[in-house]
Amino acid sequence: MQNSVVLILDFGGQYSQLIARRVREANVYCEILPYNYSLDKIKAKNPKGIILSGGPSSVFEENAPKCNDELFKMGIPVLGICYGGQLMAQVFGGTVSRADTREYGRTELNILHNDGIFKSIDDDIKCLMSHTNFIGEAPENFVVTAKTSSCPVAAMKSIDGKLVAVQFHPEVEHTERGRDILANFLYNVCEITPDWDMGDFAKETIANIKEEIGDKRAICALSGGVDSAVAAVMVHKAIGSNLICIFVDHGLLRKNEGDQVEEVFRDKFNLNLIRVNAQERFLTKLKGVVDPEKKRKIIGEEFIRVFEEEKAKLKSQYDNIDFLVQGTIYPDVIESGTDKADVIKSHHNVGGLPEDVDFKLVEPLRSLFKDEVRSVGNKLNIPDEIVQRQPFPGPGLAIRVLGEITPEKLKIVREADWIFREEIRKAGLNRSIWQYFAALPNIKTVGVMGDERTHTHTIALRAVTSSDGMTSEWARIPFEVLDKISREIVNNVENVNRVVYDITSKPPATIEWE
Ligand code: XMP
Repeated sequence: MQNSVVLILDFGGQYSQLIARRVREANVYCEILPYNYSLDKIKAKNPKGIILSGGPSSVFEENAPKCNDELFKMGIPVLGICYGGQLMAQVFGGTVSRADTREYGRTELNILHNDGIFKSIDDDIKCLMSHTNFIGEAPENFVVTAKTSSCPVAAMKSIDGKLVAVQFHPEVEHTERGRDILANFLYNVCEITPDWDMGDFAKETIANIKEEIGDKRAICALSGGVDSAVAAVMVHKAIGSNLICIFVDHGLLRKNEGDQVEEVFRDKFNLNLIRVNAQERFLTKLKGVVDPEKKRKIIGEEFIRVFEEEKAKLKSQYDNIDFLVQGTIYPDVIESGTDKADVIKSHHNVGGLPEDVDFKLVEPLRSLFKDEVRSVGNKLNIPDEIVQRQPFPGPGLAIRVLGEITPEKLKIVREADWIFREEIRKAGLNRSIWQYFAALPNIKTVGVMGDERTHTHTIALRAVTSSDGMTSEWARIPFEVLDKISREIVNNVENVNRVVYDITSKPPATIEWE
């Protein structure tokens, strides 16, 4: 079955991914494409609607990003948001006004027509504005459908209702009923029947993989993380034991994690799993290394080396391993298409292997956002410990033990982390906190235990709320819970006499300590 598709043309706005997530949440499939994607290719995708995102540019700039004007004449509904809306106004001869200062914040939206995108939205709502320019006058043959005290055209539509522009951002939480406004565009203006369903997606993708791989074999690097787990289980459902999973245990995992991966995937899912216990190897390579970037590099390279060795062994055993399964997800695809973000830490994702000409790639999750991957995982009955797992960095505990890594330090951080996670779970906070872990700052302080003076390690607790890890706030864990965690750690973890809680947001700090 071919899903209805909506295309989002990205003009560089900070909310483009959010628009896509909202559309998917409304059970409509969508893709983000660059603003100058060719008209022919757009037509070939047969979209049921197009959304023009916001962006940092001004329509008055000489090289302002523009889409092909013909786009508006295809008879397909178009929604322009902020910059996208101003572009629509300009193309049809309306005016775009230049404000002296940027308007940012929540404003009352006065809705003038309760139809189209405002169907069933009877009251005025608060909406988020974030712009300098704004639509001053609607073009001829357009109707103003909402205004605010500072924007005479906060929303407009063409007479036939198919071209719609909004100056505010319906995709953000700060806009009341923003989800309904977008859903109205999809269901009411584009007349799409919502048909994007994770169960159907899983079934169809598994059938396609089966067809593609046939009776050949595939290998997959399993890390225990959500993405590789869901990708592996999908491919396993398609080709059974012809999928061989390689799980490299680098000895930098959290307490019991390696065994858990083995138990879930080998015992429960019956996956053909090779566990490579490479702890010694990694620790030897990391001996004496204190620089975080060096640690990442060593771990990344060593991981590839181990994987290559296992692959060579398998290739000498079987002659039909033609495919490599990877857990690439949609944000990775979008990100690699642009190079906006500066590299602050070289995020070498273990499992992110170099391009390998020997293999054809199988990437079943390429079109999914993280929450959709989780939902597919649920449909495939992958246990919650894996599907709801918090993000865990590829280099693992190596970047949570500051300075040189030793087996003793790993043991301390592992035990403290285990207690922290258990207490967070018991307090019912595990779903609301995005990421939480213990780090070993590699400082010794003086303490007193019993009658004895101690001089030993400090544990740092880090817990953050975030939606994508790009920015984060420190989690407001209740004092009683922190108190319990601190007591449990100093009482039960040897060589720890102090616990501190990190209260820095990102930026300026990062989530990990290294
Ligand atoms: P930072 O510390 O940069 O982390 O604020 C943002 C998110 O990325 C994870 N992280 C990594 N993930 N390899 C990974 O696969 C890495 O080297 C790495 N460094 C940080 C971090 O856990 C957080 O979720």
